Amino acid sequence: MLMRFAGKVAIVTGSGKGIGKAIVQKLVQEGALVTVTDVNRQTCEETAREINQSGGRAIAVEADVSKAEDTRRIVEKTIETFGRIDILVNNAGLVRDARINDMEEDDWDLVVDVCLKGAFLCCKYASPYMIEQNYGKIVNIASRAHLGNPGQANYSSAKAGVVGLTRALAKELGRNSITVNAIAPGMIETDAVKNHPKYEKIKELQKRDTPIQRIGLPEDVANAVLFFASDESSYISGDILHVSGGRFG
Ligand SMILES: NC(=O)c1ccc[n+]([C@@H]2O[C@H](COP(=O)([O-])OP(=O)(O)OC[C@H]3O[C@@H](n4cnc5c(N)ncnc54)[C@H](O)[C@@H]3O)[C@@H](O)[C@H]2O)c1
Repeated sequence: MLMRFAGKVAIVTGSGKGIGKAIVQKLVQEGALVTVTDVNRQTCEETAREINQSGGRAIAVEADVSKAEDTRRIVEKTIETFGRIDILVNNAGLVRDARINDMEEDDWDLVVDVCLKGAFLCCKYASPYMIEQNYGKIVNIASRAHLGNPGQANYSSAKAGVVGLTRALAKELGRNSITVNAIAPGMIETDAVKNHPKYEKIKELQKRDTPIQRIGLPEDVANAVLFFASDESSYISGDILHVSGGRFG
C-alpha cells in the first residue's frame, strides 16, 4: 500500500456519506489525518468513529458549508487538532432539479449556496494556512453537469461556477505552491442517485450512453481526488478531470 499522505492533514466537506466518505477512507488508508465534516451530525460522527476504530485518525465537525461562521469553525478545529491543513476537498453538494419555469428561487439559492459559495468559503478560510506553509492541494468536486443539463439550471450553473473558481484560484495561489484542480464526475452510484424514483431506468440509460458501459462508483472519484491531492500532480493546476466513463455531452 502506498502511503502518499503520511502526516498530511485533509479536510473533506460533505464526507458523512457517498463520494466524500469514499475520499476520506482512501486518504486515511494512505496515512492522512482527516477532518470529516458534514451538515448531518450523525453521519459525520459515524464516519469519523469508523476511521478511529480502524486505526486511522479523524475528527468530526458538524457544519453547513454555506455559512461563513461554520466554514471558519471547520478550519479552526482542524488547526487546533492537527496544526496544519495540506488538503482541502470541497465535496459537499446537493441537487434540487426542476425545469426553469418551475424552479423556485429558494432551490436556486440553496444549490448555488452549498455547491459554489460553500467551496468559496472553505477556500477563503483554509488558504491562509496553506499560503503560510507554502504548500496546499485544493480539489473541488464539480460535475459533468457543468457542461449543461436540462432540469438542472441551478446545479449546472453552480458547478460551472466551481470550474471558474478552480481556474481563478489556480492562478492566484500558484505562487504559493498551492494547486487547485477539479473533478467532474458523471453519474456515480450514491444515495443521491439510488433514491431517485426512476433509478433503474436512469442506470440503464447511463449504461447505453457511456463508452465505459457502467455507472460510476464513489471509489472512481476518490481515486482521481487522491491523484490531485498527491505530489504526483504538483505541476498540474487549474485542470478539470472528468470521471465520467468517457461521456462528455
Ligand atoms: N452522485 C453523482 O452522480 C454525482 C455526480 C457528479 C457530481 N457529484 C457531486 O459529488 C459530491 C458528493 O455527492 P454524493 O453523490 O456523494 O451525494 P450524497 O448526497 O451521497 O452526499 C453529499 C453529502 O453532502 C452533505 N451536505 C449537503 N449539504 C451540505 C451543507 N450545506 N454543508 C455540508 N454538507 C452538506 C450531505 O449531508 C451528504 O453527506 C457533490 O458535490 C455532488 O454534486 C455527484
